[in-house]
Amino acid sequence: MASYIILLGPPGAGKGTQAQAISQELQLPHISSGDIFRENLKKETELGKLAAGFMNKGELVPDDVTIAMIRERLSRPDCQAGALLDGFPRTPAQAEALSGMLAELGGQVNAVPYISVPAEVLIERLTGRWTCRQAGHIFHEKYNPPQQPGCCDLDGSELYQREDDKAETVSRRIRVYLEQTKPLIDYYQQRGLLIEIDGILPIEQVTASLLAALPHNG
Ligand code: AP5
Ligand code: MG
Repeated sequence: MASYIILLGPPGAGKGTQAQAISQELQLPHISSGDIFRENLKKETELGKLAAGFMNKGELVPDDVTIAMIRERLSRPDCQAGALLDGFPRTPAQAEALSGMLAELGGQVNAVPYISVPAEVLIERLTGRWTCRQAGHIFHEKYNPPQQPGCCDLDGSELYQREDDKAETVSRRIRVYLEQTKPLIDYYQQRGLLIEIDGILPIEQVTASLLAALPHNG
């Protein structure tokens, strides 16, 4: 049966960093709702313009728009054997919609690693983050610096600071997470799927704990 893994955690917890590190090992495509919105914005699609209005304020894009976008993405052939979801679901309505979608696709959520990081650490992580223009590779000026400042180690493209990584927008995103997304911790715990991972450790150690905890590694 197809295997879907959801990376849960606050903004800056390291969902994208860890997804990039483990997606190949798990042989699951990395599906990031935030990356898809940013990709659409780069291409100046209607979806991208609509999403940017919410993202730049640190608010969530409405459920109906987000659910339709993920439904389309998960229906593509590369997700037939499963996917590593990063940033979706983010509300109880999205979690319900996901379980319906996966049932139609003949799959189910297999595990929900929750990367836990205290709020005071998140701000420093986000305001020091540098993201690659070409493919969204993630760096940090202190914790994961690129070899050459401003330049992606993996594809040489320019590194930029996300519009929503300004200090005031970061605070709003953390509040929105606490109000709308945190309830999913209980939701998945009640279904026996939650695996808590200590996200305060260095990047490589978090990767090792994730791989050890996920079902494929026993
Ligand atoms: P999205 O792009 O998903 O942002 P987010 O959830 O706020 O999470 P981030 O990408 O900021 O953090 P991350 O956990 O991926 O951390 P990262 O690995 O980069 O969403 C953006 C916006 O899109 C939302 O605000 C919303 O508007 C919209 N949206 C997206 N999905 C939606 C949905 N489902 N519904 C509605 N709206 C939606 O790491 C952060 C930094 O820390 C990096 O610099 C990294 O190098 C560093 N770092 C990572 N791990 C460590 C470590 N262990 N130690 C030290 N530094 C570390
Ligand atoms: Mg991310």
